[in-house]
Amino acid sequence: MYKQFVRPLLFRFHPEAAHQFTMLGLKMLRRIPLFSSLVRLLYRYDTPSLGRELFGLNFPSPVGLAAGLDKNAEFFNELSDFGFSFVEVGSLTPKPQDGNPRPRLFRLPKDKAIINRMGINNKGIDYAIRNIQQDPPRCILVANIAKNTTSLTDEEAISDYEHAFTRMYDFVDLFTLNVSCPNVEGLQSLQDISFLSDIVDPILAHRMAYDTYKPILVKISPDLPFEQVDEILDYCMLSGVDGIVAGNTTRRREGLQTPQHRLEQIGHGGLSGAPLYEKTLALVRHIHNHTKGRLPIVGVGGIMTPGQALELLHAGASLLEIYTGFIYNGPRFVRTINKYLEKHWEK
Ligand SMILES: Cc1cc2nc3c(=O)[nH]c(=O)nc-3n(C[C@H](O)[C@H](O)[C@H](O)COP(=O)(O)O)c2cc1C
Repeated sequence: MYKQFVRPLLFRFHPEAAHQFTMLGLKMLRRIPLFSSLVRLLYRYDTPSLGRELFGLNFPSPVGLAAGLDKNAEFFNELSDFGFSFVEVGSLTPKPQDGNPRPRLFRLPKDKAIINRMGINNKGIDYAIRNIQQDPPRCILVANIAKNTTSLTDEEAISDYEHAFTRMYDFVDLFTLNVSCPNVEGLQSLQDISFLSDIVDPILAHRMAYDTYKPILVKISPDLPFEQVDEILDYCMLSGVDGIVAGNTTRRREGLQTPQHRLEQIGHGGLSGAPLYEKTLALVRHIHNHTKGRLPIVGVGGIMTPGQALELLHAGASLLEIYTGFIYNGPRFVRTINKYLEKHWEK
């Protein structure tokens, strides 16, 4: 039904318009009594065998929603009704920002992929906090935080992450530090170990002041050379970072079916979806081997089939996240994965 009717209809619209249209629909539908219960009944699939305890939290299943779809923490409960056991909201920055000029979101249907250069458009952490207060989460909530694009000096960047972290501490269950978005000038250079430690060390120090422990994950790019990944991993293990989100979108374009002239027309941006999967798999395997399984991994990038979800878990991921696969496969996708994992996943 989704692939035959809904997706062709949505794909007639420009991707950003289709996204806004779908979210508006969700906003209206959630006012209908029992709508949420009905969606949960149709799409969620929770069985005890899928649950896993990690970071002191009980995840009903390993599959969550990746950052970028619910940028302002407006729909996390509705999205969790579609089966996600956790939802990563954001990226959120201290101040609201518009992101890059449009058009900035493109579908590559031949490749089951998306290119985006949204540029971390979001309404800021205060807006997100108000939303979370008004609609208390029914799922595990992750805040993905980043610096504002206008924060150009190291001091400003460090202060942005600290500010976002401390402001959001009481409202979410765990944090992802986004240092790998390819669409914000200078953000990826924060993965250099000296910058990374300048950002993460103060955050880890702040955490010690709180009574409750909130896990902190670092989201890295799939384009990093493995030597640099290893430096990051060694630092994370030593410093007390709780896990790695592997990874973000890629700048690479090899092996795509989409014609070259179309890619040139689209221009720069991060590629997500099917073509990213092999990179994600290699990255997850590498992290798992290098850390000997001591640093939990959230595997994200190009999961388009239940078999790939299983393969990533076997490669060492503890949890998984999906974005583009949800757009291409539709609302039943998480349920299909969970049912498959129930049959085939040996923990
Ligand atoms: C339109 C779009 C916006 C995104 N925005 C963010 C973001 O704000 N922060 C972030 O860390 N990742 C963002 N991502 C990256 C996703 O979280 C994910 O890492 C990536 O898309 C790979 O997963 P996928 O192939 O399942 O989509 C975005 C992805 C897309 C497609």
